[in-house]
Amino acid sequence: MEQRRLGPVVGLGTYRTFEGDVSAARAVVDAALSAGGRVFDSSPMYGAAEASLGAALRDRRAEATVATKIWSPSVEEGRAQFEAQRWFFHSVGIEQIHNLVAWEEHLPWIEEEKVAGRIDRIGVTHWSAGSFGELEGALRTGRFDVVQLPLNPGERESEARLLPLAEELGIAVIVMSPFGGTGAPLLGHSPSEAELEPLREIGVETWPQALLKWVLSDSRVDLVIPASRRPQRVHENALAGAPPWFGPDERAFVARLTGS
Ligand SMILES: NC(=O)c1ccc[n+]([C@@H]2O[C@H](COP(=O)([O-])OP(=O)(O)OC[C@H]3O[C@@H](n4cnc5c(N)ncnc54)[C@H](OP(=O)(O)O)[C@@H]3O)[C@@H](O)[C@H]2O)c1
Repeated sequence: MEQRRLGPVVGLGTYRTFEGDVSAARAVVDAALSAGGRVFDSSPMYGAAEASLGAALRDRRAEATVATKIWSPSVEEGRAQFEAQRWFFHSVGIEQIHNLVAWEEHLPWIEEEKVAGRIDRIGVTHWSAGSFGELEGALRTGRFDVVQLPLNPGERESEARLLPLAEELGIAVIVMSPFGGTGAPLLGHSPSEAELEPLREIGVETWPQALLKWVLSDSRVDLVIPASRRPQRVHENALAGAPPWFGPDERAFVARLTGS
């Protein structure tokens, strides 16, 4: 799998997948690691997902980078979330402020934890284009190393200003919801085998892989984190993380197949 600034380019999301089921978590975590993945994205918002991820990684912790989040309007609760994460994961590779919640209040103590070596990188996320103005303002402070945002052929608002800004400031980019989020609307209507045929010579076997390659063919993207509860799909998704990448014509072709 290709490596960019955050490691191998296909990671794993954990929203609404294994939740509190540790054996299900172990199955998808093992599938992701065996396929060459390294980065696992979670959040206190995802119920028991952090605890299950921590348990699933126990024997393979050194192989993984944990990207998780602080999600609280209060600093006190945010700090308690971090203490729980230290218990689950020992250290956090990428600590993100989830959906910009109280980001100005959380940043100082998260920066202290980074200086103390308990966090490697600081990030910020938002899923909604309506909040991209505020996300842009947060990035312009120069205090974030990573931004997580949506990007897929049906959601391209981040291309206008956020991706150019991230490139200008040297901020690494994680792409959430490559299939359009829970329920995967972009996978609802898969193109036929014949329609996918032109993409086979560039290493695409399945429609989910075409969408992941579409995202990763933008060189400003460092990492995409599709979520699945099924190990076989985790493996399938990871195979999209190797070159060759799409040029403008293939990207336009895939976007047309989504109806965008
Ligand atoms: N605000 C934020 O910070 C924020 C917001 C949204 C997402 N995220 C992060 O981004 C991650 C990914 O986004 P997402 O979970 O919203 O959505 P997504 O990855 O776009 O889509 C997930 C859906 O795709 C299905 N899927 C995955 N691989 C598949 C394949 N190969 N074939 C068919 N179906 C497949 C999964 O179903 P099965 O489980 O049945 O395979 C699941 O329903 C999240 O898990 C989370 O970690 C962060």
